[in-house]
Amino acid sequence: MKLLIVGTGYVGLVTGACFAERGHEVICLDIDNEKIERLLKKETPFFEPGLDELVKRNLQAGRLHFTTDYKKGVAKSEILLLALPTPSRPDGSCNLDPLTSAVDAIAPLLDGYRLIVNKSTVPIGWGERAERRIKEKLSAPCAFDVVSSPEFLKEGSAVHDCFNPDRILIGTKSERAAHLMKELYAPFSLPADRVLILDRPSAEMAKYASNAMLALRISFMNELALLCEKLGANIHEVRRGVGSDSRIGSQFLQAGVGFGGSCFPKDLRSLKMMGDEAGYEMPILTATLAVNARQKRVLMQKIHRFFSSRGGVEGKTLAIWGLSFKPETDDMREAPSLELIQDLLAQGARLRLFDPHAMHTARAALPENSLLTWCKDEYDAARGAHGIALVTEWQQFRSVDFDKIGKDLLEKALFDGRNQYDPEEMKQRGFAYHGIGIPD
Ligand SMILES: NC(=O)c1ccc[n+]([C@@H]2O[C@H](COP(=O)([O-])OP(=O)(O)OC[C@H]3O[C@@H](n4cnc5c(N)ncnc54)[C@H](O)[C@@H]3O)[C@@H](O)[C@H]2O)c1
Repeated sequence: MKLLIVGTGYVGLVTGACFAERGHEVICLDIDNEKIERLLKKETPFFEPGLDELVKRNLQAGRLHFTTDYKKGVAKSEILLLALPTPSRPDGSCNLDPLTSAVDAIAPLLDGYRLIVNKSTVPIGWGERAERRIKEKLSAPCAFDVVSSPEFLKEGSAVHDCFNPDRILIGTKSERAAHLMKELYAPFSLPADRVLILDRPSAEMAKYASNAMLALRISFMNELALLCEKLGANIHEVRRGVGSDSRIGSQFLQAGVGFGGSCFPKDLRSLKMMGDEAGYEMPILTATLAVNARQKRVLMQKIHRFFSSRGGVEGKTLAIWGLSFKPETDDMREAPSLELIQDLLAQGARLRLFDPHAMHTARAALPENSLLTWCKDEYDAARGAHGIALVTEWQQFRSVDFDKIGKDLLEKALFDGRNQYDPEEMKQRGFAYHGIGIPD
C-alpha cells in the first residue's frame, strides 16, 4: 500500500521505516527541512535502537522516501498517517496546532478517497472535529475517513514494539476504513483478537487511559517507597511480593526518581484538563502528578541531607550518570535529570555529566553553565567527584568497576535513583549508599 506519514519524529519515523520494511511504499513528511535533509543523506536524526539500519536499508531499497511537500505526499498516497506532536500548553491542555495545520494542509489536496489515520494522542472528540474541518476545507467533494489508531510504541524499544504490537486499536464506524486498516497491518501477522475495532472516542480515550494507568502504578510505588523508608520496609522486596500477584504483574512497579518523557506527564495533564472542562474532578490524576512532582525532588533531598553535615552542596562536585528520561533513548523531554541538575546548580554544585546517547540533546536542553562538565564516560564523570547520582539506568552503568571508580572519588557516596545496585555490596565496597525506598 502507498502510505504518507505526516510527522517524522519518534513515532512517525519508526512507523514509516517499519511499514516500509514490511513492504509498504512509504513517504515520510515533515515541516522540519533540516530533519528531512539529514534523512535524505541517510542520517537518522535521533537515537532509537535498530532504527538507523532500518531507515538506511529501506531508503536503499526505494521503499522509503522523505519530503517536506504536502502536495507530492498526498498525491502519491492511499493512507495518510498523522504522527504529530501534541505537547502541553502552559495550562496543561493539549496543543493541537500541529495537527490542525496538517489537516488544513491535507484537506484541499484530497482528490479521491483517502484514509486518514491519526496515531497522535489527542483529546477525545478530535477525530470528530477533524472530520468536520476537512469537509469544510475540501476543494471538491470527495470521500474520506478519519480513523483514530493511537500509538503504543515505547521509545527505547520502538522498532520492536512497532513490529510486535500488543494490540492495534482501530477507532472507526466505517467498514471501508476498518477493512483498509486490516490490510495495512496484514504483513504484521497479528492474531485477529489483537486488532480491535472500537468507536473513535473510545479509541482516543483508551490511549489516555493506558498512559494514566501506567503512570499511576509508578506514582503509587513511589509513594509507598517513601513510606517504606520511614517504616523500615524495602520497596524492592515489596515489589517482588506485589508483582508476583498475577492480577497485578510486575511491570511499571519500579520506584525511582519519577516519570518523565514526552508522553506520561503531558497526557495526564491533558486528561485532567478534559475532566476540568467537563466539570468533572479527577483526584487520582491530580494525585499521580503531585506524587511525581514530589518524587522528582527526592534524590536532590537525599544529596542535600548527606552533604549538610559536610559543609553543604555548594562547591561539591557530583557525577550525574544518565540524562535521558529513560534508557535507550536520547529524548530529554521532561527528563527527571533536568530538575535535579537545575536544583544542584542553583545550590552551587559542580556537575560532571554523562549519558551514553543523550549528550547532544541534554546540551540543547540545559543552559550553558561553567559549573557543568560534559564527560566522555561514567568513569570520567566520577573523577574528582564527591559522589555519584545515578538518574537513568543505562545497562552499561550496571557493570562498572566500583573499586576503580572509588579510587577516583573524593567521597564514596552513591545516590541510586533507580535502585540498580545492591546496597549491601556497595556498603562493603565502602560506599555510603542511598537508594529509593530502601531503609538506610
Ligand atoms: N514518543 C513516543 O514514545 C510516543 C508513543 C506513543 C504515542 N506518542 C504520540 O505520538 C505523537 C507524536 O509523538 P512523537 O514523540 O513522535 O513527536 P516528535 O516531536 O518526536 O515528532 C513530531 C514531528 O512532527 C513534525 N511536525 C510538526 N508539525 C508538523 C506539521 N504541521 N506537518 C508535518 N510535520 C510536522 C515535527 O517537526 C516532528 O519532527 C504525539 O501525540 C505523542 O503523544 C508518542
